[in-house]
Amino acid sequence: MKLQRLDLETFRNHQQTSVDCSPGVNLFLGDNGEGKTNILEGISYLCLSKSFYAANDAVVTNITRDGFVVTGGFFSDAHIFYEARVAFDKQQNQKIITVNKAKIEKASLLLGQFPVVILSPEHSSITVGSPSDRRRFVDLVVSQSNRKYLDCLMDYRRILKQRNKVLSDMQFSHRAHDDALEPWNENLIRVGAALVKKRIEFIGDFQPLMLDSYATLTGNDETPELTYAPSFECTTDGQEEIETVFRQTMNSRSQEERRIGYSLVGPHRDEFIFKINNRDARNFASQGQHKTFLIALKLAEFYYLKQRCHETPMLLLDDVLSEMDGRRSQRLLETIAELGQVFMTSTDERALNWNPVASSQPRKFFVRQGGIDRVEDAAHIH
Ligand SMILES: Nc1ncnc2c1ncn2[C@@H]1O[C@H](COP(=O)(O)OP(=O)(O)O)[C@@H](O)[C@H]1O
Ligand SMILES: [Mg+2]
Repeated sequence: MKLQRLDLETFRNHQQTSVDCSPGVNLFLGDNGEGKTNILEGISYLCLSKSFYAANDAVVTNITRDGFVVTGGFFSDAHIFYEARVAFDKQQNQKIITVNKAKIEKASLLLGQFPVVILSPEHSSITVGSPSDRRRFVDLVVSQSNRKYLDCLMDYRRILKQRNKVLSDMQFSHRAHDDALEPWNENLIRVGAALVKKRIEFIGDFQPLMLDSYATLTGNDETPELTYAPSFECTTDGQEEIETVFRQTMNSRSQEERRIGYSLVGPHRDEFIFKINNRDARNFASQGQHKTFLIALKLAEFYYLKQRCHETPMLLLDDVLSEMDGRRSQRLLETIAELGQVFMTSTDERALNWNPVASSQPRKFFVRQGGIDRVEDAAHIH
């Protein structure tokens, strides 16, 4: 998938910005605070229906306005044209998403249509942060590649909320009725087991891609590992068996749950453990290893989505390469430039170490005060 043209209207500090995108590498240059990341954020809206880091749609609306519009023209790998549009109305708190003028009723129907892999400084939490940061990573990758996963996840969250409400009510009123909990238990088990099953399958498929990517980046002297640790002992990937263990574990912890008033078993407590040379990366990896691990995860995400969506994802890299040493960044640039369409930001293009003889010279956009000042394109030289 390639983004051919992007239009931002009253989005962040962009009043009216149009980008004619290169099918290769697009490089957004400029000082801090000029509006480079905001452009990537606009693309994120078209692909994921939301920002990759903002908490909500109101904060990305230009502060002087009541809404924003982001429009994108895409060409699929098979050269089919799509126009996607996301329009937000702040007063009504309403977001309308259309693809080729047809309204998209829920985000799960948009996800995966314009697959994207995003790497920004915020993503460092995937390897250094809490279990929920890793779950979010996995959930987004699987959601982009499997429509049912996001629906299942939303279902699960709704049921969990209801069950927690019942548990918390039971805690305060002493009329402890098991009956009130019963329907939520079975729902949680059924939908939760489906999620666990999908997560097991995902890790199985994703792990080899991750190993390959890591080896490409580092050579073979370090072995990374990705393991999935569900909140209950799980030695099978059959739906019914998973349900059985889920139910048993839930029963064994029912006293405890009642005492503290919320659910202790289920996918919301799952952990994904990332290891390097058999040690937990979260506690033992160096900064360089964290970064390499993260980039390997993102490359693996790229290959995974490409296989699953039958479409080449776009890559968005926000401020990623600037702190890397010259050789590593050059190697990475060469790798990603061959993958597909890339959008990246930097405050200093010299720090990027672009190989001057590489065929994939970037198109450079000089971003200033919420607009594009100047475009330089060296691609046609070759
Ligand atoms: N809702 C908003 N309305 C107007 N301007 C905004 C809004 N949100 C952020 N900005 C402005 O956008 C700029 C930051 O843009 P950003 O793309 O993050 O910069 P950078 O070029 O450093 O990546 C800041 O000047 C900030 O004041
Ligand atoms: Mg930025």
